[in-house]
Amino acid sequence: MLDFEFYNPTRIVFGRDRLQRIDALVPATARVLILYGGESARRYGTIARVRQALGARHVEEFGGIEANPTYETLMRAVQQVRTQAIDFLLAVGGGSVIDGSKFVAAAAVHSGDALEILSTHGRQITQALPLGCVLTLPATGSEMNSGAVVTHQAKQAKLAVMNPALFPRFSLLDPSLTLTLPARQVANGVVDAFVHIMEQYLTYPVHALAQDRFAEGLLQSLIEIGPRTLAAPEDENARANLVWIATLALNGLIGAGVPQDWSTHMIGHELTALHGIDHARTLAVILPANLSVRRAAKHDKLLQYATRVWQLSTGDATTRIDTAIAKTRDFFESLGVPTHLADHGLGAGHIDAIIANLQEHGMVHLGERQDVTPEVSRRILEASL
Ligand code: NZQ
Ligand code: ZN
Repeated sequence: MLDFEFYNPTRIVFGRDRLQRIDALVPATARVLILYGGESARRYGTIARVRQALGARHVEEFGGIEANPTYETLMRAVQQVRTQAIDFLLAVGGGSVIDGSKFVAAAAVHSGDALEILSTHGRQITQALPLGCVLTLPATGSEMNSGAVVTHQAKQAKLAVMNPALFPRFSLLDPSLTLTLPARQVANGVVDAFVHIMEQYLTYPVHALAQDRFAEGLLQSLIEIGPRTLAAPEDENARANLVWIATLALNGLIGAGVPQDWSTHMIGHELTALHGIDHARTLAVILPANLSVRRAAKHDKLLQYATRVWQLSTGDATTRIDTAIAKTRDFFESLGVPTHLADHGLGAGHIDAIIANLQEHGMVHLGERQDVTPEVSRRILEASL
C-alpha cells in the first residue's frame, strides 16, 4: 500500500510579465542579494526589471555563478552575504544559479565548516536564508524542489545536497524570459525533464496509479512539445508547457511513495565532473544503455512504458521493449542531443576513471534496488560507447 509524506512549500507565480509580483513576495525591509550567472540575465534586461520591482529595498548583486556551480565561487557569495548583512536571496537564472543560491542560503548561516554541507549531502543543514527565484531556463525543477548540485572543483566532485530548508519561498515562472535561450539549452531542458520523470517512473510497479499516469502524461507531453518548442521558439504555448512540465517533473508529486532510480544521474554527474559535458547530455548517453542493461529487473515497467508512452501494443515483449528503448534514443537524437560516449570523444579507456570516481563518492549501491554496483555501472558505460 502507498505510504509517504509529501511536503512542498514553494509558491509558484506563472505567466507573462509577472516580475512586479516580487514587490509583494519579498519582505519590504529585506536586504536583498540578487544572484545570477554569466551575462544572459543582465544582457536581456531581467536584472534591471527585477531591481525595479524591488523598489527602495537595499539591493546588492553577485554575478558569475557558472554552469555546474562551484563551491569555490559560491563561498565568495557566502562572504558577501555575511559582510553586507544580507537576509534575502533572489536567484535569477537556470538550475545552476538556483542550486548555487540554495547552497549559499544554507552556508551563510551554517555554524561549522561549509564543506560539511556537501560531505553530508545536506543532512547537517538546520536553517537557510529565505530564497526567491526568477527562472530563465526550464530543465532542472530546482525552482520547486529542495535539492541542489554543487561541484567541488579542487576535488573534481559533483555532489548533490537535499534538505527541506532549501525549498524556495517562491518562484516566478515567466516563459517569455526563456525565449532568448539558445537551441542547445532548450534541447538540454527537454532531455533533463524527460530523464527526471524516468528516474521516478521506470523502476517496478507499486500500484501507484496516479503517479504512473501522471508521469506517462508528462512524458507524452514532452514528446509532443519538445521538438515543437525547439523548431518554433516563438510558439509561446509550447514553451509555456515546457516550463511547467519541467517543474512538475521534479517537484515531488510523481515521486511520492514510489521507488526511485537516479543511477543515470549519478553516473552522469561523474561525466560532467571529469569531462565537463552538459548535465542533460550526460543523461542522454547513459539512460538508453541503463535501460538496456537492466531490462530484466525493469521488465514490467519497460513494457508499461512501451505500451502507454509509445503505443507499442502488438508483438512480443522483447521486441516492444527494444523498440521503446530505441525510440527513447531516437527522441533525444531528434532534439540534436547525442546518445553515445563516442560523440563526446570518450572511449573504453575512459571508463576506469569514471568507475573510480563513483567508488570515491560512495556511489556503489545505486538504483531502486541498490543493485547498481560499480560492476553494473561499468556494463552501462560499456553499452554507452
Ligand atoms: O550564465 P548565463 O550567461 O546566464 O548563461 C546560462 C548558462 O550558460 C544560459 N541561460 C540561462 N538562462 C538563459 C540563458 N541564456 C539565454 N537566455 C536565458 N534565458 O544557459 C546556460 C546553462 O544554464 P544552467 O543554469 O547551467 O542550466 P540548467 O538549468 O540546465 O542547470 C544545470 C545544473 O542543474 C543541476 C545540474 O547538475 C547542473 O549543475 N541539476 C539540479 C537539479 C535540482 N536542483 O533538482 C536536478 C538536476 O538533475 C540537475 O542535476
Ligand atoms: Zn537532471
